[in-house]
Amino acid sequence: MDPEQARRTLETERERGLRAIAEAASLEELERARVAFLGRRSPWSEVQRSLGSLSPEARRELGRLANEVKAALDDALAARRAELEARAEDELLRSDRVDVTLPGRRPRPGSFHPLTIVQEEIVAIFTRMGYRVAEGPEIEDDWHNFEALNIPPDHPARTMKDSLYIDVPGLLLRTETSAVQIRTMEQQGPPVYVVAPGRVYRREAVDATHGSVFHQVEGLAVDEGISFSDLKGTLEAFARALFGPERRVRLNPDYFPFVEPGAQVAVSCFLCDGVGCRVCGNGWIELLGAGMVHPKVLENCGYDAERYTGFAFGMGVERVAMVRYGVNDLRLFYDGDVRFLERFEGAA
Ligand code: DAH
Repeated sequence: MDPEQARRTLETERERGLRAIAEAASLEELERARVAFLGRRSPWSEVQRSLGSLSPEARRELGRLANEVKAALDDALAARRAELEARAEDELLRSDRVDVTLPGRRPRPGSFHPLTIVQEEIVAIFTRMGYRVAEGPEIEDDWHNFEALNIPPDHPARTMKDSLYIDVPGLLLRTETSAVQIRTMEQQGPPVYVVAPGRVYRREAVDATHGSVFHQVEGLAVDEGISFSDLKGTLEAFARALFGPERRVRLNPDYFPFVEPGAQVAVSCFLCDGVGCRVCGNGWIELLGAGMVHPKVLENCGYDAERYTGFAFGMGVERVAMVRYGVNDLRLFYDGDVRFLERFEGAA
């Protein structure tokens, strides 16, 4: 290659190269321009390789020019690359833009089940009075569910017809939370002040007011000098906390093997205040069974029945929830229908 031709080649390559670089519309095009004008097979490289065959003078001059051209193209490449990269980033930002004014997709908050709400409220009323929460197993043995509670061997609750037994002899699904009274007194000495919420099971046909599984809250207080008036006062305080300060309680004699005397407890209706209405019928809402703990029950647990007396009570959570919310069919609590359940969001 003669020097003049080499010089012209370099000049043209500079001019064409700069234009191609300026016109490159993407990083790929830019890379192609780099290879075309500075790559191993580019005219520029060809001139570079031919320098050795030139006279020292021409070599110096053309060598300088070749470096100049390369530097100019390198600069242009770097500048254009920076430009294209900035543009690509802008584009990415634009296409990734989030409309922060769009309403979000809210997860639907869950809510407590009405029975949970009511059960917790009942328990809280007693824990505020100083009672502790006690628990027992849902699979019980004959001793805790019946015998220690003074339930005689011929009592109907003991038959297969009324209770749900399991395959293991002597074990059944507890029929009442009263069993927790026994477990508690076996575990600790007096004084005792506990409430025991829990699930109970009965062999029962399911209808609007009966279920084979339901919930109870049991209460037990044993101490020196506890009398029937303590029971009445405690239940009155409970009824007022649950249904309003105007409530009165009424106790009618009733029989439960584990208490003596025993009572059926009703609360004056919170809707009609005892006059009689759709919810209560005759002005009173029957809510609990209660009584003074039978001395035999205390003795079964190793308590000195001469020194200690106590009262016990038990209520159905479903029953309280039904009157509280005006629900007339207990099955609604178990159907899991969201339209029903969401009425209780934020209740309590
Ligand atoms: N366990 C009884 C029932 O399931 C309710 C009950 C009545 C509990 C009297 C008591 C009580 O503690 O003293 O029907």
